[in-house]
Amino acid sequence: VKQGNGVKGLSEMDLKTVPRQYIQHPEERLDKNQVAHDESIPVIDVSNWDDPDVAASICEAASKWGFFQIVNHGIPLEVLDNVKEAAHKFFELPTEDRRKYLKENSPTPTVQLSTSHSPSVEKVLEWKDVLMHFYVPGDESTNLWPPVSKDQVLEHIKWAKPVIRKLMEVLLKGLNVKEFDEEKESLLTGACTLSLNHYSICPNPELSYGVGPHSDISSITILLQDDVGGLYVRATRAGQWIHVTPIQGALVVNIGDTLQIASNDRYKSIEHCVIPNAAENRVSVPIFASPKVGGVVGPLPEVLKNGEKPIYKDVPWSAYMKHFYSKGHDGKKTIEFAK
Ligand code: SIN
Ligand code: FE2
Repeated sequence: VKQGNGVKGLSEMDLKTVPRQYIQHPEERLDKNQVAHDESIPVIDVSNWDDPDVAASICEAASKWGFFQIVNHGIPLEVLDNVKEAAHKFFELPTEDRRKYLKENSPTPTVQLSTSHSPSVEKVLEWKDVLMHFYVPGDESTNLWPPVSKDQVLEHIKWAKPVIRKLMEVLLKGLNVKEFDEEKESLLTGACTLSLNHYSICPNPELSYGVGPHSDISSITILLQDDVGGLYVRATRAGQWIHVTPIQGALVVNIGDTLQIASNDRYKSIEHCVIPNAAENRVSVPIFASPKVGGVVGPLPEVLKNGEKPIYKDVPWSAYMKHFYSKGHDGKKTIEFAK
């Protein structure tokens, strides 16, 4: 089967079953019996960031769940709807127009179309295509981003950045860090990547993953999902998965490995996965706030101040990232690299 046009290309061939390369080994598939139907991740109203109860709920959710949804965050519904629609528009472009953004063709390294997670090293592929945007404030290369989605993506980033900042301020305060100053900001959230994820209609969703179980390597991720559903997170109870029910206007926030490491395990970076859908194309738009190139990931001095032992060794961010992309998604394994 030809993979050069991504999963979207395959879905245009009207296949009755998923190609062999996308079929997960039975042991690796999400076990429907392991889905907890009576639980959901916390939903936090952040209309007043200065409310101590809001801060307490965020820090508690970050330590107990690692995953929560926020509502009343201030990003207009229209901005959210526009960026989701832009994701559909990009993937509806004729194949040749999409292909212009493949790594080898892209007019700039700051925008890149790809498929699955790391296709050259994966045993089984994931049923997903992605257009990645590497955002550096003031970088003019954004002019070369796809005209169908560029403005909507930049607008979403503009509104999302202050939300990321607020979340980080609250989370760091919970770690006794007095100030989220420039140095901390650059260390933890100095680089920002936005993905337009596209999960085409899948003939056999029960056999495949849209994204296999993994934890994010970022500091935090804020994810916009549509109303199709399919995102599952690993609950604290062993083996159980919880569906992240789509809520109109909400953003899903999750702690990534970097912040779990920085907090010396106070905050948890939780495993999650995506099951594709048999009836509808799904889009999602995560923004990954991560260390700057050249940064080093390790427990923060403020956290270790009282003589606490560091659980993780310091690892250059570039090595951490390289390790993550050197293999397929295999659960919450990347963090072991920093132990
Ligand atoms: C991911 O975790 O990589 C994607 C999440 C989603 O699409 O909902
Ligand atoms: Fe993820």
